[in-house]
Amino acid sequence: MTTPVHVLFVCLGNICRSPLAEGAFREHVRKGNLSDRFVIDSAGTGGYHAGEPPDPRSITTAESMGIDIGRQRSRKLEPKDFEQFDYIVAMDRSNLRDINARKPFQTDSDISLMLDELGTHGQDVPDPYYGGSDGFNHVWNLVDEATRVLLERVLKESN
Ligand code: 4NP
Repeated sequence: MTTPVHVLFVCLGNICRSPLAEGAFREHVRKGNLSDRFVIDSAGTGGYHAGEPPDPRSITTAESMGIDIGRQRSRKLEPKDFEQFDYIVAMDRSNLRDINARKPFQTDSDISLMLDELGTHGQDVPDPYYGGSDGFNHVWNLVDEATRVLLERVLKESN
């Protein structure tokens, strides 16, 4: 039995973008019959919403794709995440800076920017918190595609 690959998605509040990325990645993994090979989670660089479910607009957006993210609970990024997670994926450049600033000197975690998977460089998943529900659909489309490509990369790298 091989140890599962641990993948963590990180945004600011862990209620809008990273819960959608977690849900999208989990669905790609499920469709590939790979669920027992992965541990998937999400976290926020800030802990303002710790213990809360995702934003209702994120829940509705995922639901419209047939995916239930309603049981997720927000939590703050912790030092031990750098020991436990093989991949830590930031939603935007600000999250990436915060993650790198907290990174211990020694970590094997692969720390990356979500949309870099799509071959662009330095593009953010826009924060939809202060906008309307259109923003959430846009976020979904971005993270759905980027997590699909991420899964391909992770599978290649873990073979
Ligand atoms: P997220 O969105 O980082 O995608 O979860 C936000 C959620 C909450 C806040 C900001 C962004 N906030 O300021 O409370």
